[in-house]
Amino acid sequence: MEPEPAAAFAGDTTYSWPVKGVAVYGAAITAAMAVGYAALYVRPSAKFRSKVVGIIPARYASSRFQGKPLVPILGKPMIQRTWERAKLATTLSRLVVATDDERIADCCHGFGADVIMTSQSCRNGTERCNEALLKLKKKYDVVVNIQGDEPLIEPDIIDGVVKVLQATPDAVFSTAVTSLKAEDACDPNRVKCVVDNRGYAIYFSRGLIPFNKSGKVNPQFPYLLHLGIQSYDAKFLKIYPELPPTPLQVEEDLEQLKVLENGYKIKVIKVDHDAHGVDTPEDVIKIESLMRERNL
Ligand SMILES: *[C@@H]1O[C@H](CO)[C@@H](O)[C@H](O)[C@H]1NC(C)=O
Ligand SMILES: *[C@@H]1O[C@H](CO)[C@@H](O)[C@H](O)[C@H]1NC(C)=O
Repeated sequence: MEPEPAAAFAGDTTYSWPVKGVAVYGAAITAAMAVGYAALYVRPSAKFRSKVVGIIPARYASSRFQGKPLVPILGKPMIQRTWERAKLATTLSRLVVATDDERIADCCHGFGADVIMTSQSCRNGTERCNEALLKLKKKYDVVVNIQGDEPLIEPDIIDGVVKVLQATPDAVFSTAVTSLKAEDACDPNRVKCVVDNRGYAIYFSRGLIPFNKSGKVNPQFPYLLHLGIQSYDAKFLKIYPELPPTPLQVEEDLEQLKVLENGYKIKVIKVDHDAHGVDTPEDVIKIESLMRERNL
């Protein structure tokens, strides 16, 4: 059998809740192996959820930042920077850009990316990923939605969310969190997350959770910031857009709450990562100076 996910996690110091985590991953892997055994006669090397496609959804029109995927960041289009980082992930069988825009498609073909054209009717990245998945001829078990506006995404984080989904058969969705900075505590655009002691998501909120009874931010509490990256079981991605909106999802305007409200499980990994999402032209200037500083 293939114990690599466990080994990779056990040895990786960027993931927290390691003590319980390793035990849980172990149990999950045993379950995954049982599935593997059932398939043993057919394909001895079959691994649970082994075929993985990474999809970078990219749209041109954006209320806050027109043409955002093509904005140059130290001379290279942002979408190319994201793609180059994602290419370094080792768990992806394939990486595609999903877009409805010819300018983005042309740019991506120029640096050698695989492009899937999606319709303009996609309301968001999840729908775009789903449409791209349906258009791919090969079957995939896992889809990773890689945000095109995180040009400094770590390939290890992509691999981390994939591996945890492979190791957790009872979760249909996985995502990542990192430590929340104090200055972001009350920013509704920074989504907070709370998890149980096995790393399953309990809730996501734009408000600060947990809420200290003093009414203030507790400097001692390890609050968690949700990162945009997410991976889904491909079968779940087919039903996800069809699930009707749920009250908490609508109230918080957070898609992932629909998953929890329908009783599905989300597995969360904790990573060490400074999020540098690009939402506005000012963010480009910030990220460029950071890259110069770090010689990236
Ligand atoms: C709330 O935050 C304070 C620090 O600001 C901390 O000492 C306290 O333990 C926290 N929890 C409660 C229930 O007060
Ligand atoms: C985004 O897509 C999901 C899944 O397809 C859907 O449930 C959700 O309502 C959409 N959100 C918006 C704001 O359109």
